[in-house]
Amino acid sequence: MENAVKRIGVLTSGGDSPGMNAAVRAVVRTALSRGIDVIGIRRGWSGLISGDVFRMDGDSVAHIINRGGTILYTARCEEFKTEEGQQKAVATCKLLGIDGVVAIGGGGTFRGCLALSRHGISVVGIPGTIDNDIGCTHYSIGYDTAANTAIEAIDRLRDTMQSHERCSVVEVMGHRAGNLALYVGIATGATAVLMPEHPWDFQKDVAERIRNARLHGKSHFMIIVAEGAFNNDEIMKNPGSAAKVAEMIHEELGIEPRVTVLGHIQRGGCPNARDRVTATRMGYWAVECLAAGKNNRVVCHQGGTICDMDMEEALEVPHSISASEERVLQAMTGFEG
Ligand code: F6P
Repeated sequence: MENAVKRIGVLTSGGDSPGMNAAVRAVVRTALSRGIDVIGIRRGWSGLISGDVFRMDGDSVAHIINRGGTILYTARCEEFKTEEGQQKAVATCKLLGIDGVVAIGGGGTFRGCLALSRHGISVVGIPGTIDNDIGCTHYSIGYDTAANTAIEAIDRLRDTMQSHERCSVVEVMGHRAGNLALYVGIATGATAVLMPEHPWDFQKDVAERIRNARLHGKSHFMIIVAEGAFNNDEIMKNPGSAAKVAEMIHEELGIEPRVTVLGHIQRGGCPNARDRVTATRMGYWAVECLAAGKNNRVVCHQGGTICDMDMEEALEVPHSISASEERVLQAMTGFEG
């Protein structure tokens, strides 16, 4: 069957995530195997606006499946939110003969995809964010690697917290999403997990849990706090969510927690097997969509299967926290003895 596109562009946008390179590689290799040309676009939508692009061949993606970060660089682009910026990007596509674009990133990236497709360029989005906060897909590239990075760090913290009989307050990424905090909290046997999606009460959800754990003979405690747990940008920046929770613990219980902010460490590192394989499957799927003449789609992971969904519908699916993971956490942390 003839391809519906002849030359496609590929870009990564927004916060990077481990596995983005594997997705870029899969896009390039799948396209080339179908006789479709590939143009690499640097720094996300900014590169499309300024024409910062290069031709990608098979060698350009050699030895990157195992590399963290993104060889295409990434950026958050304000100019692309304007009509003028979008017109410039369309002009680049027309000039270079790009008739399809694969964009790898999070929700912001997908809103950019929508804008471009409204200007007549075929687009397919691939979910790549460690936050795993895109409602239409059960999984976004980078989540598992980031979770494992956080878990490894927290396991180390636990050793020293246990020796000194201390309380540790650890901040994990997630400005508007607590998925990573919840997942990591379950995996590390946390005393409490605080997330932005649900209102929480310091007395009930932190102080009582620490008291309860103490009553059951525990002398070290692990509190996991999502970056955006307070739903308050001021606290997030100053002093930071984990620092604020530690302050509250100190005031209420008289203990002096140690605060660790894992920060951007969670975004780096070699992608693990799950992220490499998912990224490769998604990259392949994105090119198949464009080749088949599909436009305005998001590649999704649902129940173990890769599929695609209309971009507008996808953007309307609200982000949510896994209810079953929450119940499990509740059972693990709210024990009575
Ligand atoms: O990629 C998403 C995310 O990791 C959020 O969890 C975090 O709030 C944000 O990116 C930080 O982004 P940056 O510091 O790179 O702007």
